[in-house]
Amino acid sequence: MVPRWVFPVTFALIFVGAILITVVCLVAKVGFRTSDSEHEGTAWKKGALYQIYPRSLFDAKFDMEGTGDLQGITAKADYLYDLGVKTLWISPFFTSPMVDFGYDISNFVDVDPIFGSLEDFDELLKTMHSKDIKVVLDFVPNHSSDEHEWFQRSLKREEPFTDYYVWADPKGFNDSGDPIPPNNWLSVFRGSAWTWQEERKQFYYHQFHPKQPDLNFRNSLVQEEIKNVFKFWLDRGVDGFRVDALKHLFEVEDLSLDEPVDEEADVEDNLQYSYLKHPYTSDQPETFEVVRDWRKMMDTYPDKLMMVEIYNDDIQEVMKYYGNDTDPLADFPFNFQLIDKLQNRSDVTGTRLKNIIDEWVDNLPDGKWPNWVLGNHDQNRVASRLGADLVDALNMLTLLLPGTPITYYGEEIGMQDADISWEDTKDPWGCNFGRERYQEHSRDPCRTPMQWDATANAGFSKGPSTWLPVNDNYKTLNVKAQTEARESHLKVYKTLARLRQESSFAKGKLAFPVVTDEVLAFIRYLEDEPTYLIVLNLSENDVVVDLDHHANLELPPEASVITRSASDKSEENSPGSKVSLSALMLVRGEGLVLQLPFVEEIE
Ligand code: NOJ
Repeated sequence: MVPRWVFPVTFALIFVGAILITVVCLVAKVGFRTSDSEHEGTAWKKGALYQIYPRSLFDAKFDMEGTGDLQGITAKADYLYDLGVKTLWISPFFTSPMVDFGYDISNFVDVDPIFGSLEDFDELLKTMHSKDIKVVLDFVPNHSSDEHEWFQRSLKREEPFTDYYVWADPKGFNDSGDPIPPNNWLSVFRGSAWTWQEERKQFYYHQFHPKQPDLNFRNSLVQEEIKNVFKFWLDRGVDGFRVDALKHLFEVEDLSLDEPVDEEADVEDNLQYSYLKHPYTSDQPETFEVVRDWRKMMDTYPDKLMMVEIYNDDIQEVMKYYGNDTDPLADFPFNFQLIDKLQNRSDVTGTRLKNIIDEWVDNLPDGKWPNWVLGNHDQNRVASRLGADLVDALNMLTLLLPGTPITYYGEEIGMQDADISWEDTKDPWGCNFGRERYQEHSRDPCRTPMQWDATANAGFSKGPSTWLPVNDNYKTLNVKAQTEARESHLKVYKTLARLRQESSFAKGKLAFPVVTDEVLAFIRYLEDEPTYLIVLNLSENDVVVDLDHHANLELPPEASVITRSASDKSEENSPGSKVSLSALMLVRGEGLVLQLPFVEEIE
């Protein structure tokens, strides 16, 4: 226990420092607000969306491979319900040789035996729907597995499959008689994006792994096949799709065009994807026509979600995927700004967060809905990338801003990246860089089994081992421990998910009374509803914040604590206490959610 006198003394010292800091108070009120009817009609706007990597949630079938499965997801329905999530997005569980762990699909309309069966899926869907949880599937239209029947028949030039994939003749032959690829295009996973097929005497194009050949979307039959896959799952009752790798759907028709070197990226490895710019292989205009067509088809079913994966530094390009009122496309492209612009602890400042929020909200097409993504199965864990101290504060940000928060499994307990040895490494992206460099690119660290309790395999599997090692910290960092603790990341998350349901958060307005590098404070308010003030200390020090002086709004002298970061053990800030807004004490990385007794007009 920290003696009670330590806090006042420490805070007094910091206070002196704090008043020396130039506080930039912006009279920043975001006029963002969606209409009531819009909010009420659409299930996925009503709460947090939770991403499940099915290999890693829970192994209910207890197979020897220690791999999660669909029954495992169903078995955790109560946990997901209690967590307060409203929509699940499940990464691919379709039939697959698993070179890219399910993103290489050999049958789009069946379940891989490792995950179970179609009956298991129906059961999952029924269970989730009975709890009012929507289920969104991961959909991978850009490529299939090379083991898909379409590819096997295309290879043999069997009609109508001959042009189902992107085939090209060699540019020529080198001195040893080896065929030369038609251009310099690179795979995201490193190396040439072209692989030679002796049988057909042609190259095929693969934006990812050679075992993930790109489908040819210039072929209308391919477009029909893919729409039929959508329909198959929609008819089975799913609530929407997360569309994988959408920007790669088309390439230019002229396959003789080389992509230019990206001089600014300053990458030495000329086999690395970022060595080149990608004007001919990404975000081609034809993509929008296809998305438009999918939208029309999906709109023949009620309230289906289409969210699309688009990584692009140019936010205007990303926004195009929303479409607009007269030309609706995706419900949203993922907002990866909190990933792209926050790569380490020192990137997380109030000023930067405010800019990130403004950039998305200001560029949002009229009437469209924001979303906030902190992590996913391709990124380092939040606690490892940005700091374990920030886990609760960042969850407060994403769950309490207007829009849909997207949570990757395990982030609600602050799971961390695991240290995966070269011998245990599975991710093809990491493996392509070899023993010396795999850690720069491997996505295995964020994909380890969910940590349920302190028993063997973290309670994830009763098998002898698990597909990826469980993180060593599972004995202390797990769901059971955090359920039993008085305060924990998990408990904070549940409180936030519950708050997210309240009208002030679901459809209220947003204002920023304080924006500095150290502190970001925002208010959520709605007429005749409670007003909430969220104060985040993003610095690596404990601070005292004087909102009386520094806020650009007239605020009451006191507020009540609703929840706070689990790292703050002080009596003063414990939930239910009254705190003075002229001397708010926050430990490093802490977030505080306060309810204000009354607020004069904020406008
Ligand atoms: C994007 C997915 O998020 C990633 O995990 C996968 O490897 C590629 N697309 C290829 O499908």
